[in-house]
Amino acid sequence: MSLFRTKDIDAMLAVARDDGLKKVLGPTDLVMMGIGAIIGTGIFVLTGTGALTAGPALTVSFVIAALACGFAALCYAEFASAIPVSGSIYTYSYATLGEIVAWMIGWDLLLEYGLATSAVSVGWSGYFQSLMAGFGLKLPAALTAAPGSVPGVKTMLNLPACLIMLAITWVVSYGVRESTRINNLMVAIKIGVVLLFIAVGVWHVQPANWQPFAPFGFAGIFNAAALVFFAFIGFDAVTSAAEEVRNPRRDLPIGIIGSLVVCTVLYVVVAAIMTGIVPFAKFAGVDHPVSLALQFAGQNWVAGFVDLGAILGMTTVILVMTYGQTRVIFAMSRDGLLPERLSSVHPVHATPYFATWTVGIVFAAIAALVPLNVLAELINIGTLAAFTLISVAVLVLRKTRPELPRAFRCPGVPVVPLLSIGFCLFLMAHLQALTWAAFLIWLAVGLVIYFAYARRNAVLHNHGG
Ligand code: ALA
Repeated sequence: MSLFRTKDIDAMLAVARDDGLKKVLGPTDLVMMGIGAIIGTGIFVLTGTGALTAGPALTVSFVIAALACGFAALCYAEFASAIPVSGSIYTYSYATLGEIVAWMIGWDLLLEYGLATSAVSVGWSGYFQSLMAGFGLKLPAALTAAPGSVPGVKTMLNLPACLIMLAITWVVSYGVRESTRINNLMVAIKIGVVLLFIAVGVWHVQPANWQPFAPFGFAGIFNAAALVFFAFIGFDAVTSAAEEVRNPRRDLPIGIIGSLVVCTVLYVVVAAIMTGIVPFAKFAGVDHPVSLALQFAGQNWVAGFVDLGAILGMTTVILVMTYGQTRVIFAMSRDGLLPERLSSVHPVHATPYFATWTVGIVFAAIAALVPLNVLAELINIGTLAAFTLISVAVLVLRKTRPELPRAFRCPGVPVVPLLSIGFCLFLMAHLQALTWAAFLIWLAVGLVIYFAYARRNAVLHNHGG
């Protein structure tokens, strides 16, 4: 059953201790990194569609999506504290569920992180262009968006989306310490802007706008939950930094759960205030719902700040996602499942330079050429699949390696992992058939590559395992 061969956890821990990556990150860096990956396009762009789908009950949708993430986060935290090795859930499943499952989930993560960087670059580009338009600066229409994304307008490529993606790639390839420094600054500004929205917006809430609370019933609430789930994606990227953390067993769970809690509170409050200021039907066709709410309240100067904060906020999401993506590739390449070159570390910057530029260029091209709506649902399904698997893996590891030290233990096993699996499958069921089809095709391609390349080149294949 070599398809299900597993890696030896103790050997993995030894490799991680001596891998050439610098151990420089602490708990604050990780919480900031989590928030950096979490708050972005989801809250700044997708809340408009969410409010149209659920009405003021969008707050409930956020809570449902947060619960799904929360249960999965507890499972993630247990793994991250037991196996603090680069590669996130890919690595955990290699240690527990076997090689073919690990490969498929790694392949799935490439879809999640990669497309997320592209999707957020596209959201970034929209806000950036609207800010520039405020100063009277406009790009030629052909360079503003992907082909076919604006009805009636001949567009060729989304130039700003492509350029921001390449700029972030440069930052990540330059070094992790420098990246987290830039990240921490931008995350602080982003949280500041969200708090500013809350502090100013709360005085303009008209409780009458919250009636009727759930105009589209449970169906609306659940569909919106499956969509705004996107707003929480990213906390898992914290785990991909495991090998660069000073005290991973303690700090990784703090990073994961801390960032998720902070963001949930902020989202629910923002959603309540937004739908309290603006009657939800007015969000139709709006791609900057948060600042629209402030304009609606007559707070134009605050709205301008929020626009700027949104741009910075989305920049950090791209940064952390790119970072996570390269670390998964690094881990898969080190295991022989992807070409060796992808795990080479730069002699001066100590970063996986080649892998970083490879993904940067590929996803910059996708950001330039593919519309946002096509990308968003695919990302959700990929992530929900990963969350389901991590929950299964926690149950398996408790059986196969009960003695393994875990600085953090997921509470309420097996109930919490089972709840996580249930919530994730429930949300997946609320995504479109087309999304399912595209996802299954991606997995099928992955399976072909596994049998044609990865299986034969795996380190475990050549050294026994
Ligand atoms: N959670 C990230 C965002 O909202 C992906 O942009």
